[in-house]
Amino acid sequence: MAELGSGYWALSPLFIMLICVSLCSAGCPCTDPSLCEPINSTRDSEVLVFYTRGENWKFYDWSQVTTIALFGKYDPQLLCFAHLKGARLVLKGDVPLQDIVDPNNRTSWIAQKVELAKSQFMDGINLDIEQSVLKGSPEYYGLTALVQETTEAFHREIPGSQVTFDVAWCPDCVDGRCYNYTGIAESCDFIFVMSYDEQSQIWTECEAGANSPLNKTISGYEKFIQLGIEPKKLVMGVPWYGYDYPCLELFQDNKCTIKEVPFRGAPCSDAAGRQIPYSKIMKQVNSSLTGRLWDDVQKSPFYNYKDAKGQLHQVWYDDPVSISLKSAYVKIHGLRGIGMWNGDLLDYSRNPIAETQTKSMWNALKGQGN
Ligand SMILES: *[C@@H]1O[C@H](CO)[C@@H](O)[C@H](O)[C@H]1NC(C)=O
Ligand SMILES: *[C@@H]1O[C@H](CO)[C@@H](O)[C@H](O)[C@H]1NC(C)=O
Ligand SMILES: *[C@@H]1O[C@H](CO)[C@@H](O)[C@H](O)[C@H]1NC(C)=O
Ligand SMILES: *[C@@H]1O[C@H](CO)[C@@H](O)[C@H](O)[C@H]1NC(C)=O
Ligand SMILES: *[C@@H]1O[C@H](CO)[C@@H](O)[C@H](O)[C@H]1NC(C)=O
Repeated sequence: MAELGSGYWALSPLFIMLICVSLCSAGCPCTDPSLCEPINSTRDSEVLVFYTRGENWKFYDWSQVTTIALFGKYDPQLLCFAHLKGARLVLKGDVPLQDIVDPNNRTSWIAQKVELAKSQFMDGINLDIEQSVLKGSPEYYGLTALVQETTEAFHREIPGSQVTFDVAWCPDCVDGRCYNYTGIAESCDFIFVMSYDEQSQIWTECEAGANSPLNKTISGYEKFIQLGIEPKKLVMGVPWYGYDYPCLELFQDNKCTIKEVPFRGAPCSDAAGRQIPYSKIMKQVNSSLTGRLWDDVQKSPFYNYKDAKGQLHQVWYDDPVSISLKSAYVKIHGLRGIGMWNGDLLDYSRNPIAETQTKSMWNALKGQGN
């Protein structure tokens, strides 16, 4: 059907320029300008993915993704692709809280974020403010007001946009974060519960433990719900990473004692270990001293290994089995959805073993086993 004339025009720089004058004028980076319209439809259930770097996003399971939180560099290709798939791309929002106690400073911070989102054709903002706050302090009220005013501004300026807020696994002033959780949850679209780093404050013996033990995780949701927050305002965050702890001593029963590294008032913390991506864990577990072991109290896998210097380590992580146990809770209790820190921690290479492992991590989000 290709006609010589139109073929010539389709390829000519003049033609491209003419299209651009009419369509690219607003700076839309997508070949189809309708992809620069904000996403304004809301789906029954959310799958929120934190994007941090690189081009792994091309291999995400886009049949599930509803929101990408941009925690890496803005990539216009990602914007166009997300919109093509009907998924939102939202900004990251973080600010020192003393800077937004003053209402005028707050307003100008919000206005700047709205403008940035608009100029990049984005669909909202994910507020990730993990600072410690004392109940009743100026920051306590400033933060609640920030969430409320950010939501109002985004919803008004970008119809259909989404404003969300990240919270610790439990509302009990974990890590000194004594926020007005009900006020925050009420004013934004949903809160993203970071059901990980749950050993950030170890008050008992200093020993290695699961990043996201099932019971502790669920007790967190129960507390949010007891505060009066509706399950539909809660999105569960699961970890796609684990912790590698050097053991001071490793006992026969697999107890691994760890160095005392205090955090926000607690004598011990997971800062004694270091975070390790699931992709790396999968390359290490089979050749470790123990292979994959399962802790039936914490409902999490772990393994022990010895490094090149002879130091013993214990690695705690989450895999499709432990994640499915958590995602089942999302379905049973009617939470708004699920998400993970972060989308780029899996092995997206074309290696067949990696492909299978990566696919089952995505499938584990569905809360129905594999
Ligand atoms: C939602 O988006 C569509 C397409 O981008 C647009 O035509 C429509 O006006 C929007 N609706 C609202 C309520 O903003
Ligand atoms: C509040 O805004 C004023 C005016 O822009 C600025 O000078 C001041 O540093 C800001 N305060 C804080 C705490 O950021
Ligand atoms: C929390 O915020 C809400 C909404 O602003 C407010 O009504 C409520 O009084 C606040 N609660 C506390 C304990 O500060
Ligand atoms: C590790 O072992 C498991 C279970 O035997 C197997 O399914 C997996 O493919 C192995 N992984 C690698 C990288 O060889
Ligand atoms: C988990 O919590 C429930 C209720 O809070 C308790 O009955 C149960 O024993 C706990 N399970 C484990 C394995 O600790």
